[in-house]
Amino acid sequence: MVVKLDNIVPFGRSLTEYQRMFQLSPDDMEREILDIAGGPASFNAEMAQLGHAVTSIDPIYEFSGQEIQKRFDACVDNIIEQVRNTPKDWVWSYHKSPEDLRRNREKSLALFLADYERGKAEHRYVAGALPDLPTERRYDLVLCSHFLFLYSEQLSYDFHQQAILKLLEYSHELRIFPLLTLGLERSPYLDDLRRGLDQQGYFSEITKVDYEIQRGGNEMLRIRLPA
Ligand SMILES: C[S@@+](CC[C@H](N)C(=O)[O-])C[C@H]1O[C@@H](n2cnc3c(N)ncnc32)[C@H](O)[C@@H]1O
Repeated sequence: MVVKLDNIVPFGRSLTEYQRMFQLSPDDMEREILDIAGGPASFNAEMAQLGHAVTSIDPIYEFSGQEIQKRFDACVDNIIEQVRNTPKDWVWSYHKSPEDLRRNREKSLALFLADYERGKAEHRYVAGALPDLPTERRYDLVLCSHFLFLYSEQLSYDFHQQAILKLLEYSHELRIFPLLTLGLERSPYLDDLRRGLDQQGYFSEITKVDYEIQRGGNEMLRIRLPA
């Protein structure tokens, strides 16, 4: 059995998880990064602490920190319980158990919330939703964690195509993780999307990364315009 989510959940990941999911090198960390669908990840907060430049865009930034905490509290028990009840679906290498996963998600949320008002004032957290982007700026690198492909059952092929092409208008490089759906299948959109991108002159490659929690979910897609 696989986990079912009624809505897209407000779970956020840490800087270390982003480094592993996206194979971020020291040079990558120096780049101007857009974290699309950043949600309550602590990636932006932790990067800001280190003096790095990240802008996060997500529709939940319309809400107050209190409201985001409330949404998290309303669903965390249920999700962790579903995870506990589906032991074959998960790999406990990075997170050590469902309880450890919960603690790590709570920690990321707390770091995010502590940074949220300041980050909003500094325009590091910007409300917006794909396939549109509320920005004029270009970025060196766009990261998309746990949104595109993961929600392939909820979001159409056309949505994915529009979103990816829009993101590539703003950066010459986009990395997406994971490539699995919530049903633990590789997204049915992946091959056709890659073929379309190839025809438009983009180079894409799938890379194995040192991060896995969904069983089999240790691959990242990297899309670039050849130099
Ligand atoms: C599972 S969370 C992932 C958060 C973060 N990227 C991470 O991995 O820690 C998915 C996020 O997608 C956001 N989202 C939902 N619809 C979106 C859209 N149309 N455009 C951008 N983000 C969206 C949700 O608000 C939520 O914060």
